[in-house]
Amino acid sequence: MLKIVVCVSGGGTNLQAIIDAIDNGAIKNTEIVGVISNNANAYALERAKVKNIPAVCISPKDFETRDLFNEALLAGVHEFAPDLVVLAGFLVNIPPQMVADFKDCIINIHPSLIPSFCGKGMYGLRVHEAALERGVKVTGATVHFVDDGTDTGPIIFQKAVEVKDGDSAKELQQRVMEEAEWVILPNAINAIANGEIKIGGDR
Ligand code: GAR
Repeated sequence: MLKIVVCVSGGGTNLQAIIDAIDNGAIKNTEIVGVISNNANAYALERAKVKNIPAVCISPKDFETRDLFNEALLAGVHEFAPDLVVLAGFLVNIPPQMVADFKDCIINIHPSLIPSFCGKGMYGLRVHEAALERGVKVTGATVHFVDDGTDTGPIIFQKAVEVKDGDSAKELQQRVMEEAEWVILPNAINAIANGEIKIGGDR
């Protein structure tokens, strides 16, 4: 059984996609042992509670320094003793120590086709605004392992999504979630849980 901790910041639709995929058997041999949010008001916390999944908020607002927050976040993750940490819309920079402690055991969902529209400051709606501004005809989502950089780790799955004329950033975000994120994130977890993924170098 792969024990996963899911880190969230907002609505938690990706968390919901994982919960649903475990319930309907699309993700096998996997248990969500905990949910961590940096935001006390995240609806994702409600989604966890409904399913009786232990859920905690660890907010930077409750700590005097970033280092103290990082320590608490790391301790919070260790407490659940997960095999895999899933960043599902977790809009916080992961402390380097967490990347070291969970080497090759952290994955992230990003709402673009990396290496487009990624890196520092590119998260949430901004990614889709940038894609619309550039006028791309195709965008998508990427699930990847997390390394020391921002959105630089080995790519696991990507899925393309059409940009339609007149799309708003919100409309594009919704289509990317429905057609790509909610598909490839559960697929990646299932593949890892069932030994289908191996990391070699940057692949
Ligand atoms: C998702 O679109 C996810 O790809 C994005 O935040 C959203 C969270 O939605 N993550 C990033 O931008 C990370 N760089 P959700 O809370 O409904 O899952």
